[in-house]
Amino acid sequence: MSEYSSVTQWLGQDRQGYTLPQGLYVSRAAFEFDTRVMLKRVWLYACTVAHVKKPGDFYLFEMANTSVIIVRGRDGEVRAFHNSCAHRGAKLCSQAQGSAPRIMCPYHQWTYSLDGKLLAARNMPEGFEKADHGLQPARLENIGGLIFICLSDDPPTIEHARADIAERVAIYNLEHCKVAVQDDIVEAANWKLVMENNRECYHCDVNHPELLKSLGTSGFGKGLPGDDAEAAQGARYEEYLAAQQAAWREAGLYTHLVEFPDDGWHRVVRLPLANGSRSQTIDGEPASRVPICVHPGTGDSSLSVWTQPNSWHHFCQDHAVTFSLTPLDADRTLLRTSWLVHEDAVEGVDYDVDNLAAVWRATNRQDSMLAELNHAGIATDGYRPGPYALEERLVEEFKEFYVETAKSALGEGAA
Ligand code: FES
Ligand code: FE
Repeated sequence: MSEYSSVTQWLGQDRQGYTLPQGLYVSRAAFEFDTRVMLKRVWLYACTVAHVKKPGDFYLFEMANTSVIIVRGRDGEVRAFHNSCAHRGAKLCSQAQGSAPRIMCPYHQWTYSLDGKLLAARNMPEGFEKADHGLQPARLENIGGLIFICLSDDPPTIEHARADIAERVAIYNLEHCKVAVQDDIVEAANWKLVMENNRECYHCDVNHPELLKSLGTSGFGKGLPGDDAEAAQGARYEEYLAAQQAAWREAGLYTHLVEFPDDGWHRVVRLPLANGSRSQTIDGEPASRVPICVHPGTGDSSLSVWTQPNSWHHFCQDHAVTFSLTPLDADRTLLRTSWLVHEDAVEGVDYDVDNLAAVWRATNRQDSMLAELNHAGIATDGYRPGPYALEERLVEEFKEFYVETAKSALGEGAA
């Protein structure tokens, strides 16, 4: 892949324990490589089953030269298809989200069923078989209601992650949730910096007053097993956490910490809520009166799932919040946040959107500013890769995932 020789060079300069070389964060070449090569080799988070709740509901996943339609079939199955007509290739669907009884191409009206079969094509020559011209499927995995897609014909195995995530998330019944509200923020920062910021809470104490009302920073990068955590926080917290984990184990909610095993793709953690909170809200009280999880013993904790390289999710007894990240340009990243509540919850009666979204809206604004500052400083001549703190181990996990995937893609391309 000679067109990416600069990327190869920068990857070669990467040092363990340090941030990446400048070019990998700010250059057009790295952005092209990331979106056209690296990110196409891995499983990417797209949406939840609640985003395509009913048969005919669709959701577009778009990144660089990729456009995929995720659609719920009449049989309830969620499938993914490349958004290009089997006739002369027109883009089938331009609406980001919506609902339709079938998929019709706007160009010459070839019409497809929700499971991708070609139903109608006018005036085709004799011998034309509709069965040979269905939509091209993309790989999709539904893991406990979280939808992941992979744009490679040879996707990495996801079985271990499925086992770790699906069972733990199942008690939150995403099939019976609806999207209460969805926010898009375009951050003026490279996608890897938005991810890096998400993978540490070294910045939390000073920057996230709303978040810290219901979430302790331990577990979000601090107080990880093996950390030389400060005695002030560490020892007492470890004891407290062990007692909580024993109670969760008893309630069938906990077995062990899943921390980027094997291929380093996923992390699943149950964490106690702070200050007597029962949900990730400003006042610590549930934001929706209709619970999404009725499993006993979940009231004072939340479950968090992180996947490489573009998502994180938090599940409380009354709502779930999911975050997906899509690179738009070398210095622009789309962060989409979706808040899910039970399908029976009524807006204005059982929940108020502003209250539901308050903690993460504030936190997203703060994080967005931090990622933008990070990008702006890295883009200057004075930037040199800097060392990670102990609490930034998960940032390095992400960086390693990126570097290893990128090197392997370039290696294979050269072979
Ligand atoms: Fe779609 Fe012709 S390109 S019907
Ligand atoms: Fe943050």
